[in-house]
Amino acid sequence: MKPLQVGLLGFGIVGRGTWEVLRRNAEEITRRAGRPIRIAAIATRSPERARDALAGANSVRLTADASAVVRDSDIDIVCELIGGIEPARSLILEALALGKHVVTANKALLAQHGTEIFAAAHARGVMVAFEAAVAGGVPIIKALREGLTANRIEWIAGIINGTSNFILSRMRETGASFETVLAEAQVLGFAESDPTYDVEGIDAAHKLAIMSAIAFGVPMRFDKAYAEGITRLTKEDLRYAEELGYRIKLLAITRRARNGIELRVHPTLIPAKRLIANVEGAMNAVLVKGDAVGSTLYYGAGAGAEPTASAVIADLVDVTRMHTADPEHRVPHLAFQPDQLTDLPFLPMGDVETSYYLRMRVDDRPGVLADITRILADREISIDAMIQKEPSEGEDQTDIILLTHKSVERSVDDAISRIEALPTVRGKVVRIRLEDLG
Ligand code: HSE
Repeated sequence: MKPLQVGLLGFGIVGRGTWEVLRRNAEEITRRAGRPIRIAAIATRSPERARDALAGANSVRLTADASAVVRDSDIDIVCELIGGIEPARSLILEALALGKHVVTANKALLAQHGTEIFAAAHARGVMVAFEAAVAGGVPIIKALREGLTANRIEWIAGIINGTSNFILSRMRETGASFETVLAEAQVLGFAESDPTYDVEGIDAAHKLAIMSAIAFGVPMRFDKAYAEGITRLTKEDLRYAEELGYRIKLLAITRRARNGIELRVHPTLIPAKRLIANVEGAMNAVLVKGDAVGSTLYYGAGAGAEPTASAVIADLVDVTRMHTADPEHRVPHLAFQPDQLTDLPFLPMGDVETSYYLRMRVDDRPGVLADITRILADREISIDAMIQKEPSEGEDQTDIILLTHKSVERSVDDAISRIEALPTVRGKVVRIRLEDLG
């Protein structure tokens, strides 16, 4: 059977990985897909350099003009691996308008322009596949959209930024500061020279917006996500968390609450005994709670040439299999039929209910703890655990660390400002959210 012709836009780490895995596993992939899948054209900024990497595959057309690949009438599937918003958005829309299927790894684009892109695909009866956009090689999109389709999804909690997880793991292991470990991660190639998206929780929020849409049948709304990164975490907080039986992870959480949907990324204390608390280094893991199946955990490499290629090629195979199927009978892009999306509200952080770790520096005097606990009790914030450190030799100040039961964030914020106003409390209260994930 005639091979399905793929046009690759971008030939960086993932593009090269995709080329290599398709070449190496061509025979098995063909047996699975039902026909060969062939990269027929590649658009890249430096076609000459790409030619060397193709090791004699001279029939592949190489160009610097991505739009020419999209318009090439031989190309059945456009595989966008450029990243970023433009020109990726325009190229994908052009491909869809021409009736071509699209495979993309572009989480930022889908999280912000997904509604426009999926509407364009639906209008032309073509597919947009994006397994590689979330958690690299971990097939979490397939699991949410198909494997768990019987379930009412209750919540998802994921470690979906390898850079942040690598930094947190190293901080915990070595006791070094965020700045020291970030510099080390940059030297080792685990963090970009501009790490903002990774360490500020933005990359994780992009991926979370995509998972939330598939889990709950809502539009992709990155603009509704709360993102707080790991830059302000101190080694002291990691140590105190450990003393209390917890680990701190950058967790991306989406939950169907009573009055809407939570969509939030922030450092989170997790009981150290949970499997997900033990995901270390640059690895990713996603915990999904469904009403029928209970908790399920998906773990693997969230980035890298071949792990990401694994997800890209899975999409190419899916598109190849479904290419001739009636569009009405394909698996919907976002798991729910396009006319069945709900407009459940996304909750502001003030309405979120979770538990909290609060650390404060206080004068070591009678009545200090009573003042603090009264402020919490007045707002119905119940204390779950507490440690007070011995003041160091010659010091008259000490750290108090409190864990609360579930409370409404607005009340906790109010309590924190009242506590900070006490004359016996020094500086700011450190507040880190805590999830039991039980
Ligand atoms: N920069 C991402 C991470 C990988 O650190 O996990 C690509 O999504």
